[in-house]
Amino acid sequence: MIRDDLLRLESEAHRRLSEVRSPAELDEVRRAYLGKKGSVTQMLKGLASVAPEDRPAAGQAINDLKNRVSAEADAVMLRLETEAERIRLEAERLDVTLPGRGPAPGRRHPLTKIMDEIKGIFMGLGFQIAEGPEVETDYYNFEALNMPSDHPARDTQDSFYISDNVLLRTHTSPVQIRYMEAGKPSFRAIMPGRTYRRDAVTSRHSPIFHQVEGLVIDRNVTFTDLKGTLTAFSQRMFGQDTRMRFRPDFFPFTEPSAEIAISCFVCKGKGCRLCSGSGWLEILGAGMVHPRVIANAGHDPEEWQGFAFGMGVERIALLKYGIDDIRYFFENDLRFLKQL
Ligand code: PHE
Repeated sequence: MIRDDLLRLESEAHRRLSEVRSPAELDEVRRAYLGKKGSVTQMLKGLASVAPEDRPAAGQAINDLKNRVSAEADAVMLRLETEAERIRLEAERLDVTLPGRGPAPGRRHPLTKIMDEIKGIFMGLGFQIAEGPEVETDYYNFEALNMPSDHPARDTQDSFYISDNVLLRTHTSPVQIRYMEAGKPSFRAIMPGRTYRRDAVTSRHSPIFHQVEGLVIDRNVTFTDLKGTLTAFSQRMFGQDTRMRFRPDFFPFTEPSAEIAISCFVCKGKGCRLCSGSGWLEILGAGMVHPRVIANAGHDPEEWQGFAFGMGVERIALLKYGIDDIRYFFENDLRFLKQL
């Protein structure tokens, strides 16, 4: 009789324990069987009504049951804890083999890179690097450079004037004067910097742009030195097979003056889209420094001669990177900048 009750109780306890889903439920089941008013406890109390000769065996059987249910409840507790731990670990799962997200490092702007390249080449040729102010006087920007007051570049339409005779420099050539004034010949320097002209923004023009000026003053400097220096520069900048084209040009501060082109480094002179079919790319203005300019800067043009040149950095950058719109350089769009 008791045996049947015990069997029934045990299978019921076993079923309920197997369905337990939380510590609270486990507690409830444990109490229902093993608590003060639990069924197993009740059965132990009921031993009093069992015949004395059956009592030890019945007591033993109930105690055994109690121990088994208790052990099973402990096992369920362990199962619940293990399950909770597994869920916690799953939530914290972390793939330590994933590559880290590195910080996004900055990089040099393409114009800065071209500038640095130009500077590096001229430093290798023995040139110093000098700078001058972007806000200039009429005297340095025009007058000392032998540009008469009726020169079209002096028009307020073409330059940003700050007052009657102060303006944003329209080229880096005024730095030639400042550099020569500040020292004694000989001179061999490049002067990179920002320049300004009142141009509308287009794919080819920007009111702010950059130039690199060059100046060499010494005794017995000739046009051959100009050609040799700029050929050496161009071949380092654009490739050893670069050929040069010198054409007569006019600048008030050089005489004679030349417009210098290099053979197109894409088609090697055959004609392509970059050189508009001509085979040549104009990159420089240059010439022998006008004696009056040397005199204006305080030196004797009978003793000292030299050459000067100027190049547009944006133009060189456009060519080198094969870009067709100067505005990319000023818009700071990372999608563009990251490609160069
Ligand atoms: N300053 C001239 C320009 O802006 C370039 C140049 C510089 C030409 C030096 C000759 C000598 O166009």
